[in-house]
Amino acid sequence: MDLRIVHDQLTGEQFIKLWSSVWDGAPTLKQAELAMENSLLRVTVLDGEKPVAMARMIGDLGLCCYIKDVIVSPEYQGRGLGRLLMKELIGFVKSHGVPGTAVSAELCAMPDKMPFYGQFGFAANEAQRMRLYITAEGSAG
Ligand SMILES: CC(C)(COP(=O)(O)OP(=O)(O)OC[C@H]1O[C@@H](n2cnc3c(N)ncnc32)[C@H](O)[C@@H]1OP(=O)(O)O)[C@@H](O)C(=O)NCCC(=O)NCCS
Repeated sequence: MDLRIVHDQLTGEQFIKLWSSVWDGAPTLKQAELAMENSLLRVTVLDGEKPVAMARMIGDLGLCCYIKDVIVSPEYQGRGLGRLLMKELIGFVKSHGVPGTAVSAELCAMPDKMPFYGQFGFAANEAQRMRLYITAEGSAG
């Protein structure tokens, strides 16, 4: 393996490919490209030139950020890449936030993934996730 981490290079196409390696229902290319363009940080782990893991962060860095799409390609799971991605995201907030202040980092995890995130200090509180899918009518795409 020839692993390296790169920032802000993940393309919509690569995003969809990694997403589809673990989940159904990938977004369209246009959706993915708009999401990549507007992410605060995109992290990719490359093996040579091949993307094998990704994660991204959205948010404002001053007060809050949200961790999304932490995905390690199945054949690369269990080798520490998930931990590497999380350390990279947390390190980015540490080095870009206002010194001495606390930045809230949030994510949404299925129950079986909560222990994975728990090891980095994430803990559930009593708040419930509320979600609405808004049908877009805007100019993108
Ligand atoms: C969850 C995921 C990102 C973990 O990545 P990974 O590369 O396999 O994890 P790592 O090898 O870095 O594991 C780091 C540590 O977390 C532990 N761990 C990994 N998955 C875990 C889980 N589901 N529950 C508890 N611990 C877990 C590992 O045992 C390891 O601990 P150790 O260092 O003490 O041995 C990966 O399994 C994945 O991409 N899954 C499919 C997509 C997904 O569900 N993403 C999360 C969305 S909520």
